[in-house]
Amino acid sequence: MTVLVTGGAGYIGSHTLVQLLEDNQQVVVIDNLSNASVESLVRVENITGKQITFYQGDVLNKALLQKIFTDHDINAVIHFAGLKAVGESVQQPLRYYENNVTGTLSLCEVMAQFDVKNLVFSSSATVYGDPASLPITEDFPTSATNPYGQSKLMVEHILNDLYRADNSWNIAVLRYFNPVGAHPSGLIGEDPNDIPNNLMPFIAQVAVGKRPSLNVWGNDYDTHDGTGVRDYIHVVDLANGHLKALQKIATKPGLVTYNLGTGNGYSVLDMVQAFEKACGKTLPYTFEPRRAGDIAACYANPSKANAELGWYASHSIDDMTKSTWHWQSNNPNGYNSQ
Ligand code: NAD
Ligand code: UFG
Repeated sequence: MTVLVTGGAGYIGSHTLVQLLEDNQQVVVIDNLSNASVESLVRVENITGKQITFYQGDVLNKALLQKIFTDHDINAVIHFAGLKAVGESVQQPLRYYENNVTGTLSLCEVMAQFDVKNLVFSSSATVYGDPASLPITEDFPTSATNPYGQSKLMVEHILNDLYRADNSWNIAVLRYFNPVGAHPSGLIGEDPNDIPNNLMPFIAQVAVGKRPSLNVWGNDYDTHDGTGVRDYIHVVDLANGHLKALQKIATKPGLVTYNLGTGNGYSVLDMVQAFEKACGKTLPYTFEPRRAGDIAACYANPSKANAELGWYASHSIDDMTKSTWHWQSNNPNGYNSQ
């Protein structure tokens, strides 16, 4: 099978490529490198000993997509390409809608033109907004509080309409909870461009000495220690969910939606403590006011993915922090280290 992976040079894409290649699938990658380095693809090739066909370009470029579908016998597409910084999306809504929504329209139009109607889409737990109860199941109401989340929700609606209009499409919408961790080789991992917004890469940069201290955004939430609770999921487990989703799509299920989370909630302080164990250092932090738009707690009920995909998250919180530390300590400046 040949899989087109959009955004394949990015964090989750690169980990998924490793598993696709290890599963003997052919892969073709399109990435505009707006938030990634080609070095990640070189390292995926080193890990797997296999070649990647790479097109540096944008999913908004239909002519390039048409060339890719002409030159390769693509069977399915995993669509990671997107912008993902919540704060930035508030500042630059048009850029986010153009990239994430119009980019997906462009991709789907070319897929339809070439009669390739198998798609796995990267959605997010952000589409649940502030959930009324926990754990979250796929039938919970959806909402968005920022343009990033809105773009994910819009794409979900578009894909639903597309399937309703033409039920020869098979689409897996995967709602990720909080991806963290790195490949056990320490060769690929999360490499944020700027000051990390997300907790785990920020903690990792404190541990490696790039940042003096962690700001803990709020310690007055209604959680076991007052700090925010999330469902952190190891990126290797998440990547595996994409292979399972491709297998599901091969059974022609129509449009299916799955939570990819562990079902466990850990607080900010739980994560700091686990990271201290992994790196053998004490990590300084201060309590700061709540971050605008944050919710107290969010974790998945993953039983639908367990039952229908045969997918289970198997990595523990210690696996997540240890592998992050392995990646960060070997590559203090990410892919620019060498
Ligand atoms: P990432 O930024 O590391 O990867 C996205 C990749 O897409 C990057 O390599 C970037 O260069 C590329 N890209 C962006 N726009 C493009 C375009 N128009 N054309 C071609 N390439 C483009 O992010 P990630 O963490 O790997 O996330 C992958 C997907 O999963 C994204 O759609 C993201 O919104 C979604 N997601 C991520 C998280 C998370 O916390 N990491 C959570 C939920 C959902
Ligand atoms: N946090 C801190 N300090 C930091 C960063 C984060 O205390 O420097 C806290 C947050 O307040 C929150 C928790 O750590 O309680 C997790 O925050 P992240 O920014 O790592 O993750 P979020 O849950 O806020 O959001 C992430 C992605 C979203 C995605 C969502 C669900 O950034 O894009 O997970 O998948 F939608």
